[in-house]
Amino acid sequence: MQTFTWDVRKYVNNLQSYPQIQEIIDGFHQDELIALPTETVYGLGANARSDEAVKNIYVAKGRPSDNPLIVHIHDKAQLKNFTQNISTETEVLMDAFWPGPISFIVPYQTGYLTDRVTGGLNSVAVRMPSHSVGREVLKLVDLPIAAPSANLSGRPSPTKFEHVKHDLNQRIFGIIQAEDIDEGIESTVIDCTTYPFKIARPGSITADMINDVLPGSIVDMKLDMEKPIAPGMKYKHYAPSQPVVLIEGGLTKPIQVTHSEIHRIAVIGPKSIEAFIPEKMKFIPLGKHENDIKGAHHDLYDALRIADQFTDIDQIYINGYVRNASTMALMNRIDKASGHNIKGEEEL
Ligand code: TXA
Ligand code: MG
Repeated sequence: MQTFTWDVRKYVNNLQSYPQIQEIIDGFHQDELIALPTETVYGLGANARSDEAVKNIYVAKGRPSDNPLIVHIHDKAQLKNFTQNISTETEVLMDAFWPGPISFIVPYQTGYLTDRVTGGLNSVAVRMPSHSVGREVLKLVDLPIAAPSANLSGRPSPTKFEHVKHDLNQRIFGIIQAEDIDEGIESTVIDCTTYPFKIARPGSITADMINDVLPGSIVDMKLDMEKPIAPGMKYKHYAPSQPVVLIEGGLTKPIQVTHSEIHRIAVIGPKSIEAFIPEKMKFIPLGKHENDIKGAHHDLYDALRIADQFTDIDQIYINGYVRNASTMALMNRIDKASGHNIKGEEEL
């Protein structure tokens, strides 16, 4: 299958005048798979009402079928078709954070969507993205769109058009090409089927931010990886093919590595630690300094993909961040990329 590319970069604020816009709208209505930009990562979108379309998402990504998808909307009024009993507290948070990088798991009502989107659960995850292109596409198409991240299963989520193309070229109908994505890690997912709510996947909207809007609505969370709330959290994820070591707490002094093959190591970390990296090692920057969490979110998945493309390395080090509420989402992704292979700087 030839994959179309629609470069809409000159039309971000005026998508309706993009010459091929009708091709995109028709594609969704004909149950094709189309990658679209959101403010977090690129999504692989398809009509959530079509069993065939949603089945094809799982096939194109190589995704396990028990891992449910997030349904993307442009208008809260769409929810009444496929959800029920959304609590007042949930509505308050939707109104506060939407459109934006947060997904809500709410009670599912069967009949309107294909049940395949929920992987057989009686809840459904919903999100209204804020990206000007993604949001306008959802408006023009006016269908509920199921969209996981637009990567092959197990690969880092795509933050650039090139990442989507690398993973899904010739596997999907088309890709809407926009500028690189701002945020860089996937949305916060909160489970609103019981109260207080639980964070199922941390993201840039933190528990503190949610509790500021609605005090006490999020229980103090420790993610329990043995019993993940979001089925997707149990899978190995975001992992390059070379082994990754997480340097817990980060480097505080130059790396002391004695073995002779140091040119076969790539280090990913904030620009501020570059001075600690021997010249022969490869260095891939992650934000400007250790407090630049936004920059790290933005750079992380691209950095993992760059590291993966080096053919002459056999080890990747990722500099860890101090663990606190604001680094929780970042460290969650780094933990998974390293497969929890953690060392202190003295043990390298
Ligand atoms: O930022 C994002 O959320 C991106 C963009 C494209 O919107 N999407 C995304 O989708 O990251 P995906 O499929 O890669 O991750 C969705 C996560 C998975 O961990 C899945 O298990 C969880 O949400 N999830 C979806 N529906 C659920 C449900 N009903 N109950 C529990 N977890 C659910
Ligand atoms: Mg994903």
